[in-house]
Amino acid sequence: MKKQDNELMDKIVALCKRRGFIYPSSEIYGGFAAVYDYGPYGVELEKAVKDFWWKRVVQVNQNVVGLDAAIFMHPKVWEASGHVSGFADPLMECKNCHARIRVDHALEEIGVLADEKMEVDEINKLVDENRDKLECPNCKKKDFTQVKKFNQLVRSNLGNFTDDINKEPVYLRGETCQGIYVNYKNVLDSTRVKVPFGIAQIGKAFRNEITARQFIFRTREFEQMELQYFVAPETDMDLYEKLRQDRWQYYLDLGLSEENLKWHKHENLVFYAKEAYDIEYNFPFGFSELEGVHARGNYDLSQHGKFSNEELIYTDPKSNETYIPHVIEASVGVGRTVLAILTEAYTEEEVNGETRVVMKFSKKMAPVKVAVFPLLKNKPELVAKAKQVFDDLKIKYMCEFDDNGNVGKRYRRQDEIGTPYCVTIDFDTLEDNAVTIRDRDTMEQSRVSIKELHSWLEQKINE
Ligand code: GAP
Repeated sequence: MKKQDNELMDKIVALCKRRGFIYPSSEIYGGFAAVYDYGPYGVELEKAVKDFWWKRVVQVNQNVVGLDAAIFMHPKVWEASGHVSGFADPLMECKNCHARIRVDHALEEIGVLADEKMEVDEINKLVDENRDKLECPNCKKKDFTQVKKFNQLVRSNLGNFTDDINKEPVYLRGETCQGIYVNYKNVLDSTRVKVPFGIAQIGKAFRNEITARQFIFRTREFEQMELQYFVAPETDMDLYEKLRQDRWQYYLDLGLSEENLKWHKHENLVFYAKEAYDIEYNFPFGFSELEGVHARGNYDLSQHGKFSNEELIYTDPKSNETYIPHVIEASVGVGRTVLAILTEAYTEEEVNGETRVVMKFSKKMAPVKVAVFPLLKNKPELVAKAKQVFDDLKIKYMCEFDDNGNVGKRYRRQDEIGTPYCVTIDFDTLEDNAVTIRDRDTMEQSRVSIKELHSWLEQKINE
């Protein structure tokens, strides 16, 4: 059983809750739409994703440096970027139940090509032409208000001591890359980078998304991993192609299979963009955007130059040529990556007439790498030996110690959290100093001496 199964998403959501990956936010108060909390295994998965991205994007690239800009920024940043005037999605309301509907998505669902960049008139026309086919997802009625654009920026009253939040609005950032653009000059002046160079950042972003659905695919608070490359104008499209290839390979190396990935080229571009592609993943609800790879021209630095009156130009140290660098970017959400990994890993198998649910994470992504079990809980000598093995392994790997229930049950639990190896200490261990290692995927067991346990695991986990 795999993709395009209507029940798959429900099963993933249920497993995430049951096994401590992801919980709905503020659940004891009835939840808070489109916001999620990451539980003990969820944070490990997130951390593995972020570490993998950082290593691949920053650590191994001499010309890429990291940044951690604040979530709050000067409100002018969002005027310069175009978010205050243009960061809006088309919304209409059901006149019967008042459900708010994201119109471009509703049109797409009935097979009409639409996107959020269309003008309101254009999208209202499409709604009029398809009125008989559009129905409210909540009450199924077909009576809607006119479409209007709804700005997605989230407002705050930080530093505003009046009672009116709208008086001097401050925004929670809608994308992390603006923190990179406004620090472009700082990085240039304080480090030894030269064009072409990149600045990378992982951090929270906030968007007032109209519809709350598809679990962690579209949330109102989420983390982005963004790489912004500053390049010479005449080289931008060559480097863009290189970046596209690199990002494709990144997902294969992350453990996603190629058949579940595809490119989507944007035909309807924002006016400044030179080219835009998405890498789509085959989520349980079908192929949808995982990452955006965009050639943005020099719009970002030009706008911030204009609004701040700072000269955001670059002088080539060899030719003395001056220009505003062009930006090419690769931008992806941590949550979307986690959902892709969960989708890829979720597997059901028949074992001895029962269904085994197993998360077949790639070993580098698995939240827990090794579980250690004493065969029996009430045998102190087994427990002591197992603790010794656990204490030794935990320095190197995320490990779990489990002495609860029979070993079969413990295996099932570890299968559901995707632990690649379970190590059991039995009575023979006390004699031969060897343990039984059970492989998550093949369920085969190997006998390995404790002396060789580290090197055995090291080799297997990194293979
Ligand atoms: N700086 C460019 C930018 O932000 P975007 O296409 O709006 O572009 C980039 O977002 C990526 O951020 C998306 O491909 C997706 O992975 C993630 N993302 C965007 N909105 C999201 C949301 N509401 N929930 C979760 N992830 C989101």
